[in-house]
Amino acid sequence: MRHFLSLMDLSAKEIRRIIARAMELKARAGAASSLMDGQTAVLVFEKSSTRTRISFEVGIRQLGGSSLFLSPADSHLGRGEPIEDTARVLSRMTDLIVMRTGPHQRVETMAEHASIPVINGLSDFNHPCQLLADIQTFTEHRGDIRGKKIAWIGDGNNVCHSWMNAARQLDFLLSIATPVDHRPNHAVTESCRSNIELTTDPGNAASGAALVVTDTWSGMGYEKEKETRSIIFSGYCVDDALMSAAADDALFMHCLPAYRGCEVAASVIDGPQSVVWDEAENRLHAQKALMEFLVST
Ligand code: CP
Ligand code: NVA
Repeated sequence: MRHFLSLMDLSAKEIRRIIARAMELKARAGAASSLMDGQTAVLVFEKSSTRTRISFEVGIRQLGGSSLFLSPADSHLGRGEPIEDTARVLSRMTDLIVMRTGPHQRVETMAEHASIPVINGLSDFNHPCQLLADIQTFTEHRGDIRGKKIAWIGDGNNVCHSWMNAARQLDFLLSIATPVDHRPNHAVTESCRSNIELTTDPGNAASGAALVVTDTWSGMGYEKEKETRSIIFSGYCVDDALMSAAADDALFMHCLPAYRGCEVAASVIDGPQSVVWDEAENRLHAQKALMEFLVST
């Protein structure tokens, strides 16, 4: 029984296998699969979601299973029932847990006490499901990501941490431009050291990159810092000038939701280099491949 809390929970070979399978599933979209026939997945979401919730719910249904959505507002999680007890109870009645939460420790505790696979659908620390879709998207457009230069611009946040793990696992260079006080986590930086570089200069990071990636400057839980962050990050907007520093055929990605005029210019996200809608769609295919892998392991 395997959990998926981080990209580091899989081997590089397994990541490549899941992405290849995601592309296969996409090519025959809608084809019935019965791998989750009669199974139930429960989505424990302590934060908002559009893409992650929909892609898991639709994906589970397409694999023959059904899903339940549990939010703190209408479960005892919101009234202080321990995660440990919730994990044990869910394990007795369902077959898979997808959890979205703030503190990463909550999803770790869920996994520690569950006897069914737990998937991290985003924590403050990382967002591994997003990266399966992102790597699939890059591969579809440009082939193998190994050896490529990818630029991360903005906040050294949860999605950035998963990009760092991907760089290490799939052996590409991630050039990360952030303000000094918003650099990624030190331990992740150390563990991915040979595949990343840190700078405060977005132009340096983007220079010659095959892909430029960004994310909101104020993720969930940081709403109160929105104004101060918009000042701190003001030089980190991915606009046409920054894209022109990247390779001529550079792609643009954003996990969404996006804030045009802040981390990205409308002309970039809505322009010809942007692959954000493929990226969003691929959440469905990549997570179906992930669930197939987890339920058959
Ligand atoms: N990218 C992503 O995880 O989107 P949601 O927050 O809408 O799930
Ligand atoms: N970094 C963002 C990602 C949302 C999908 C957040 O944590 O809110």
